[in-house]
Amino acid sequence: MKRLGILTSGGDAPGMNAAIRAAVRTASTRGIGVVGYVDGYTGFVKGEYIELDDRAVGNQIQRGGTFIGTSRCPEFRDPTVRAQAAEKMLEADVEGLIVVGGDGSFRGARALELEQGVPVAGIPGTIDNDVFGTDETIGFHTAVNTAVLAIDQLRDTGESTGMMFFVEVMGRTSGAIALHTAVAAGAAAVVVPEGGDFQELVDRLETSIARGKRSHVIVVAEGERAGGAFKVAERVGRLLNRPYRVVVLGHVQRGGRPSPRDRIVAALSGALAVEALANGRSGMMIGMQRGQAVEVPLRDVVDNVHPDPPYELLQLAQMLSG
Ligand code: ADP
Ligand code: F6P
Repeated sequence: MKRLGILTSGGDAPGMNAAIRAAVRTASTRGIGVVGYVDGYTGFVKGEYIELDDRAVGNQIQRGGTFIGTSRCPEFRDPTVRAQAAEKMLEADVEGLIVVGGDGSFRGARALELEQGVPVAGIPGTIDNDVFGTDETIGFHTAVNTAVLAIDQLRDTGESTGMMFFVEVMGRTSGAIALHTAVAAGAAAVVVPEGGDFQELVDRLETSIARGKRSHVIVVAEGERAGGAFKVAERVGRLLNRPYRVVVLGHVQRGGRPSPRDRIVAALSGALAVEALANGRSGMMIGMQRGQAVEVPLRDVVDNVHPDPPYELLQLAQMLSG
């Protein structure tokens, strides 16, 4: 293999740049050139790329976002569009593709391989940590860190004023960010898409208020069933008759300097993705399992849903809320 392509797809995640850097520098030691497709599958479809050498990825390891751009590209769901994209890739002498993204992006990569025979490798990059076959996705640790820092600050105001804060964190279908944030920030309660009883939440808060607790932070995952933090706050605030504010952290969680752990996961994954493709192994995602980078078939990744985040975290968050 002489030339590889890499792209970042779906929502950006802190640490994507570190993954691109690792892939480029690993390829370079093997004499393989790398091109970066601009804005994910959008640039891939148009054949728009930039040459990435060792220097092009310098000073990127500490930067959030993705310097080659990302997008959601609905047209890539069309097999005809994928066939044209594969043709452009061959014309540019690009022999394999690394896709950094979430499970949607991997569905695209898998289709490209099955239909066009393009060698592909996936690297999980999404703050949601909702990809099957890996314990950690690039960006997750940083997003949790950002949410925890924000809540630490809100607690000052909560304690001073007695106001309740409902803090909405990202996670369309997964409560992973919410649960980890709740435990790390010492939240009074957490509401996640995977379940939970509304009356139980109200009872818990009522008891805690009666016991004299002044500051309450309730972490709400954006994908929870009632429709997010505003909906939950309105119902709870009305029942408890207490002043409250809603804080939606939103895209703040997607940016910022990647944490050391996200950089390390990115380095391990970028390096192994290139090693695999260079050795003729295609159609796999580089997952992290018990701290080790491993190759997981993309087929399994797209055919399965990520298991729910550990229920023990929910119990722990509640037990420790005081
Ligand atoms: P993520 O990769 O984070 O799950 P999305 O679900 O938005 O994010 O997917 C990112 C992109 O991957 C989509 O905009 C589209 O280009 C591509 N994609 C998603 N699902 C498919 C699919 N079933 N077939 C082909 N491409 C897909
Ligand atoms: O998948 C990552 C993510 O940040 C989700 O947590 C969130 O629901 C979604 O992307 C937001 O997407 P957009 O940037 O298109 O609004």
